[in-house]
Amino acid sequence: MTALVGLDVGTTGVKAIAISPDGEILARAERGYPLSTPQPGWSEQNPEDWWQASEAALDDLGVQDVAGIGLSGQMHGLVVLDDAERVLRPGILWNDQRTAAECVEIEERVGLERLIALTGNRALTGFTAPKLLWLRNHEPETYARIKHVLLPKDYVRLRLTGERAIDASDASGTLLLDVANRRWSGDVLDALEVPREWLPPVLESPEISGRTAAGTAVAAGAGDQPAAALGVGIDGPGPLSVVLGTSGVVLAVLPAYQADPQARVHAFCHAVPGAWQAMGVMLSAAGSLQWLHDVAAPGVSFDALLDEAAYWEPGAEGLVFLPYLAGERTPHADPDARGAFVGLELRHDRGALVRAVLEGVAFGLRDSLELLLALGVQADRGRASGGGARGRLWLEIVAAVLGVPLELTAVEEGSAFGAALLGGVAGGVFSDVHDAVARCVRVRDVVEPNPAWATTYAELYPSYRSLYPTLKGWNT
Ligand code: XUL
Repeated sequence: MTALVGLDVGTTGVKAIAISPDGEILARAERGYPLSTPQPGWSEQNPEDWWQASEAALDDLGVQDVAGIGLSGQMHGLVVLDDAERVLRPGILWNDQRTAAECVEIEERVGLERLIALTGNRALTGFTAPKLLWLRNHEPETYARIKHVLLPKDYVRLRLTGERAIDASDASGTLLLDVANRRWSGDVLDALEVPREWLPPVLESPEISGRTAAGTAVAAGAGDQPAAALGVGIDGPGPLSVVLGTSGVVLAVLPAYQADPQARVHAFCHAVPGAWQAMGVMLSAAGSLQWLHDVAAPGVSFDALLDEAAYWEPGAEGLVFLPYLAGERTPHADPDARGAFVGLELRHDRGALVRAVLEGVAFGLRDSLELLLALGVQADRGRASGGGARGRLWLEIVAAVLGVPLELTAVEEGSAFGAALLGGVAGGVFSDVHDAVARCVRVRDVVEPNPAWATTYAELYPSYRSLYPTLKGWNT
């Protein structure tokens, strides 16, 4: 049977899926790789690991008749190559926080208002452009050898097809794209003195970017968040995409290009040609739960931890968790923000800590939702994906905190599924992304917000909001 393949180059590993032209999963494969933190706040990976894992995962799928492949991946990562397309240093990832000084430098060079006018965004530590400037400032010898700049999934594309290319959605997170016009911004490149020749051509997500050695079309693909939104069927204004992955996301497709005047949420191109999105990103969503698991309950299953959390009433008797374990992006844009448990007492047990983490992450998502609503986004429901969305209790908490029903789609692999749909368009199986969504995405379940919980959380939200300003600068 004809298969469409989606390959998501994530932070913990690569996920590959093969689907049929009507959206049924035919095969899945996953391969992990390490993450290195050579200094506090640094986050790096070896691009060769992405490729080795991708090649192995594609092999593991064991499908023959592949019509098209789509790529998605962790956004904002910086891969630098020399003139022979050799990797010059480890990739610097989206959650790396070393570039605070370069963000100031960018906003001074370009001017904050002009930067937002040109790119729709402000300089944030995780974005790609500040990383390039960091290399110029701290590793000038490496910088002097750069000939090509790629993002993580685009490095995998290079190895898969021999082509250098990027799609508009992933390029949006570099801070070098004129997001409104979906092309590199000459003004920003000039102001930052970054050569345009280093950057690959910008394609739309479903376009063919190249072919594998076997001749299979490889779609340009998308950043993991736009791909996840597409994978749950968000191909236009309508439901929110709510993602509980390592990072946490609330994303809405906009009726037309629009940026928050202060760029508190990101304005990015969507994986749908001619569509844009507004997106809030928190850095430690399921990452916070993973952290608590690793430090307080290694060896205990996540299901067991959620059962412990379910014993506690909403609010966990006054215990509040701030999920800023790796700094925070939306809404604080603060690499120095730090996590906290506030309000501990003797009665609190491990389940209470878990409950507070689930709720703190949900409140962090609400921070982003508030900013989307301020842009005029109207969404009466969300669609959930990401590893954290497998926990029913967490979905119930998020639905109550956001005040919207959360729909679950038949296939859970949001980003890889979205990538497979793009592969299907590139391979000629679907006429466009809307056709792909209509034929493949099905809602299987809805988690309604519990009205009593929603009331309690609405009362507790201001306390959560008051903590960041109180604790700001705690560690500096
Ligand atoms: C999106 C973002 C993360 C990464 C890693 O802006 O930074 O979602 O793409 O998943």
